[in-house]
Amino acid sequence: TLTVADMEQRVAELKQKWGSKLLIPGHHYQKDEVIQFADITGDSLQLAQMAAQNQEAEFIVFCGVHFMAETADMLTTDQQTVVLPDMRAGCSMADMANMEQTERAWKHLQELVGDTIIPLTYVNSTAEIKAFVGRHGGATVTSSNAKQVLAWALKQKERILFLPDQHLGRNTAHELGIPLDEMAVWNPMIDQLETERNPETVKIILWKGHCSVHEKFTVDHIRNVRERDKNIRIIVHPECSHEVVQLADCAGSTKFIIDTIRAAEPGTQWAVGTEMNLVQRIRQQYPEQQIESLNPDMCPCLTMNRIDLPHLLWAMEQIDRGEPVGVIRVDAQIRQDAVQALNRMLAIR
Ligand code: 13P
Ligand code: SF4
Repeated sequence: TLTVADMEQRVAELKQKWGSKLLIPGHHYQKDEVIQFADITGDSLQLAQMAAQNQEAEFIVFCGVHFMAETADMLTTDQQTVVLPDMRAGCSMADMANMEQTERAWKHLQELVGDTIIPLTYVNSTAEIKAFVGRHGGATVTSSNAKQVLAWALKQKERILFLPDQHLGRNTAHELGIPLDEMAVWNPMIDQLETERNPETVKIILWKGHCSVHEKFTVDHIRNVRERDKNIRIIVHPECSHEVVQLADCAGSTKFIIDTIRAAEPGTQWAVGTEMNLVQRIRQQYPEQQIESLNPDMCPCLTMNRIDLPHLLWAMEQIDRGEPVGVIRVDAQIRQDAVQALNRMLAIR
């Protein structure tokens, strides 16, 4: 069996051999053992922009989760092949909205509010859901452009159906000044809007989905760290609940979290509410800051973590043998519609 050093050496050799014909993008939540080989690291938006720009790589070994690899496939050319090193690297949030539920919700909502609604979907969704959104004139959003995309959508229609993360939707709409009582949750399990209000007075309809990692940061965690240390600064991802985001000092995408901490006064104390690998990495990269996880139990994204050094090596060896595995190819019809939603997002600044 290969040692870690053997595997690292082999990955390095294959990278050398393939040069710019093989590209390894890595999301910020990936493990260090993988990130060390990434040609580009970034948040979801940066990785999507990268895919839209790169024409050179024949193979893209995507170190992230399935929906990100699908997005990369849809934004690259037919000559480029996207590979996900472990097909089990999904996203529980993306799985919280399927097509049947979405079609049913849309039909109900049309009956309630007619043609006054536009769908948006967080990129953390399947290609099929992106295609649905694209077909209905909507766009994708990421956590770093959600505010701009929501503002754009509200110029198109009176109200928004926001899939699948209720928290990003609620936090972003609130940032735009929309009161909480003009938002309501759509529950796909019972095909109902969870509100007593007249649906016509609701502006933002939030799909009842969430991230199982970010729900683990709570108001109690914030109280505990503040009680212990009144100077601590709390920074969280907008996939956290509204209560948590409101009590934190600031909230933003993984790129925003990194940039904010990097730019802070040395010696600043931080409690960070996001995935464990990123928290550990910034702690090592910025030793002049005092960084801890907002939840002392640490919160790994288990599916992100399925991509590890052995899987990365395996994916690269199979490409080198001419037998790529874990190839992500989105169906042509779905792709056509989903790309519209992605391109609308990429065009909004
Ligand atoms: P960003 O990459 O947009 O910060 O999103 C975090 C995330 O949960 C990705 O799954
Ligand atoms: Fe999905 Fe949450 Fe993991 Fe991101 S962190 S991939 S949203 S489960």
